Amino acid sequence: MTSTIPNIGLGTFRLQGQVAIDSVRNGIEAGYRHIDTAQIYGNEAEVGQAIAASGVDRADLFVTTKIWIDSLAGDKLIPSLKESLRKLGLERLDLTLIHWPSPGGAVAVAESMAALAEAKAQGWTDLIGVSNFTNAHLREAIDAVGAAQIATQQVEVHPFLQNSRVVEFARSQGIHVTAYMPLAYGKVMAEPLIGQIAARHGASAAQVALAWSLQQGYAVIPSSTRRANLEANLRARDIVLSAVDMAQIAGLERNERLANPDGLAPQWD
Ligand SMILES: NC(=O)c1ccc[n+]([C@@H]2O[C@H](COP(=O)([O-])OP(=O)(O)OC[C@H]3O[C@@H](n4cnc5c(N)ncnc54)[C@H](OP(=O)(O)O)[C@@H]3O)[C@@H](O)[C@H]2O)c1
Repeated sequence: MTSTIPNIGLGTFRLQGQVAIDSVRNGIEAGYRHIDTAQIYGNEAEVGQAIAASGVDRADLFVTTKIWIDSLAGDKLIPSLKESLRKLGLERLDLTLIHWPSPGGAVAVAESMAALAEAKAQGWTDLIGVSNFTNAHLREAIDAVGAAQIATQQVEVHPFLQNSRVVEFARSQGIHVTAYMPLAYGKVMAEPLIGQIAARHGASAAQVALAWSLQQGYAVIPSSTRRANLEANLRARDIVLSAVDMAQIAGLERNERLANPDGLAPQWD
């Protein structure tokens, strides 16, 4: 267990069965020590299988799961977390997030946060946090458990959706940001400006997009089914973008939100 969030993690959304096992196995072999799953991804067992087979000490891995919306009630959250642990074959999570705020406010933020804080107090998870929270939700979460308890706000951030209002509010409260879909699910690779910056650095567009997030202090959790991409993405840590590069990429903002599911997405900031 490590108590800080490693800045590059391995995303596992959409990865199922053997594809999930292979991606996590290849990722750990390539050097990833932070793995991001969720109850709704339906791959916690496969993620756990790959972790067990890796031979890497549990103490050196950082594993995140996310509580699905059907388990946000005070009496459901801890049992669902225990079920995640059973599937993952782990005794404790490093980080557990509320995946989405309860649609329509069916379960109060304070109720879920209290249950999550209790899960931490009972030792089921080392850190707790939130995902896809609006600033109003985050304010409620802070009021419920205190900003110091909230290890991260995991939100969609990439050059085309920089989410500045959400990022700025989290930061103003001292809360770390994790950028999900940091490659805009592959779209950054098609952006000519990112390609030009990548060429200047002898890097790939994916690496430049990841470096842009890392340089702002975010953790990133790109996913890949290809070993070469997994390895290349880790090397984004070696790239140093100039202030001009950073500003040019910032100019690509176009409020292009990719994760916006009907019936689930809140009223975004
Ligand atoms: N909290 C939430 O609600 C939430 C929502 C969405 C995502 N997430 C998390 O964020 C993670 C990342 O998001 P994502 O997987 O949707 O999108 P992403 O990481 O932005 O993009 C993944 C796509 O990029 C491609 N790719 C990866 N590395 C590449 C490289 N070096 N060169 C070229 N292509 C590359 C992958 O294809 P290949 O497989 O071919 O490499 C895949 O199609 C998820 O897996 C999940 O863990 C969280």
